Order: sequence, then C-alpha cells, then structure tokens
Amino acid sequence: MTKNDALRKGIFALLACLLGAAAAPAQDLRLAAPPEMVESGFFKHLLPRFKLKHRIAVEPVAPGAKAELVLSAEGQGVRVFADGQGAEYRLRLTGGGAQAETFRKWLRSAPGRAAIEGFPRDGPPAYVTEFAAEAVEAGPEIDGDAVLGAKLALVHCGRCHVVDHRNPMGGIGSTPSFAAMRARPHWVDLFGKYWSENPHPSFTEVVGVTKPFDKTHVSHIVPVQITLEEIDAILAFVETLEPLNLGAPVLFD
Ligand code: HEC
Repeated sequence: MTKNDALRKGIFALLACLLGAAAAPAQDLRLAAPPEMVESGFFKHLLPRFKLKHRIAVEPVAPGAKAELVLSAEGQGVRVFADGQGAEYRLRLTGGGAQAETFRKWLRSAPGRAAIEGFPRDGPPAYVTEFAAEAVEAGPEIDGDAVLGAKLALVHCGRCHVVDHRNPMGGIGSTPSFAAMRARPHWVDLFGKYWSENPHPSFTEVVGVTKPFDKTHVSHIVPVQITLEEIDAILAFVETLEPLNLGAPVLFD
C-alpha cells in the first residue's frame, strides 16, 4: 500500500464515519403532505431549517402513509398556512409526542413563519401565515356610535327585549335579553340582520333595504323605521354589553 492509498483509505473511513453518524437518526418524524407540495421543493426549504434549530428530522411522506404529522387542506388540526388560492392547510398530530409538538409550535412561531414565507427564495411567498392571526385578532369590523346605539336600542328594542339595566323588566315573555343574545358566538350576525328574522319584518322598515311600509296597513305593533347606520350603532352598543353567562353553550344554538 502506497502512502497515497493509506491516505485515501483514511479519508474514506473518516467520511464513512461522518456519513454514518449523520444518517443514524434517518428521521424522527414523518409528515404526510400533498405530493405537489413535496415536489415544489417547499419541504427541502422548510425542514432543514427546523432541523437546524431543534435537531429533529422530519421526512415528508405521501398522504395516507404512516405518519406522526398530517398536513392537509381538508383535514382537521391547527391552521398553519394558506396558499394564494385561499386553501388553508392544517396540521394534525397523530403521534410523535413532544417532538411533534415542537414541530407544530415552531411552524407557528416567528422563525417558523419566516421560514414558511421565505419560500420560494426568488419570488413572492407561495404560502402565507398571516391569516391565522388576522382571523383571531381582527374579528368583524364594528364602527358604529355606541352612545347613539344605546339610545336607539332602548327606544326601538326595549319594548320587547331587556336591553340593559335601564329596562330590567322591559322584555316580553320569552323574548331573549340583549345580554343573552350577546353571549351567542354569532351575535354580530344576529344583530346585523335581526330585521330579517321574525317577528321583526312585520314591523321593521330598514330604510333603502326593505320595502317602505304601506301607510294604510294597520298593525298592532308600532312600526320601526331604522337605517343601516342606526343598526351599526346598535351593534356598537351591544358590543359593550357584558355577555350573560348561561352556562353550557348548548343552551344557545
Ligand atoms: C315587538 C317586539 C320586538 C321588538 C320591538 C324587537 N324585537 Fe327582537 N325579537 C322579538 C322576539 C319575540 C324575538 C324572539 C324570536 C324567536 O325566538 O323566534 C326577537 C329576537 C331577536 C333577536 C334574535 C334573533 C334570532 O335569530 O335568534 C335579535 C338579534 C333581536 N331580536 C334584535 C332586536 C333589535 C336589535 C331590536 C331593536 C332594533 C328588536 N329586536 C326589536 C321581538 C322584538
């Protein structure tokens, strides 16, 4: 054996040793993901960044294959990012313990989100993560005049609904109180289009929206003429109300 051979052999052994060490934990977690996402190179961008930070190797596999993590636009789980077409991808954990949990947390952390949005490196992001925060924080836009709304609600609704402390006995029979309706998850929708739900249409005219009242029509209920702006004001007022705690949410819907 020449000196060169020995050297080559030595280098080879060293390389094999290094490669062996690197390959030892081939993968810690498997991530089932849409094939087109795998082919796009997204995971080649994303997963090494995660590995660098947490020393956990994640390998993408086909949907339906055995996996600890499942990423899909149809499935359940936490929303992690959306594509340009509005498809929202969710991550579901089916195993993997603390390592899987670490991956999920990382995807939603600032560095994880930066990694997601950093793909591809030479163009606009293929996936965005901002939507998740928006949906939770922004909620519906309510910009009416709450002070005006408080007055309008007492005048127009207080005949039948308990509005607040100003008419504690004002409601009729089983008509829900404002505080009870405020406790419903979709209270903004309820109040925003209350005029289209019975019994309101029979005595409510929304200016420019519903048909004007026939003046000759005799109703036993005093008609209410209201504008969309006034409804916005009522919404703003309702937002200030303390929701009534009715206990189990099953009572509401
Ligand atoms: C003449 C009586 C009357 C007046 C005035 C009235 N409501 Fe109602 N409202 C009712 C009754 C009765 C119900 C319950 C209907 C039911 O449960 O089917 C109701 C239900 C509601 C609901 C719940 C609708 C749903 O789908 O569950 C909202 C919201 C509401 N009213 C808002 C208002 C607002 C806002 C006003 C004033 C601008 C108002 N109401 C004025 C009688 C009235």
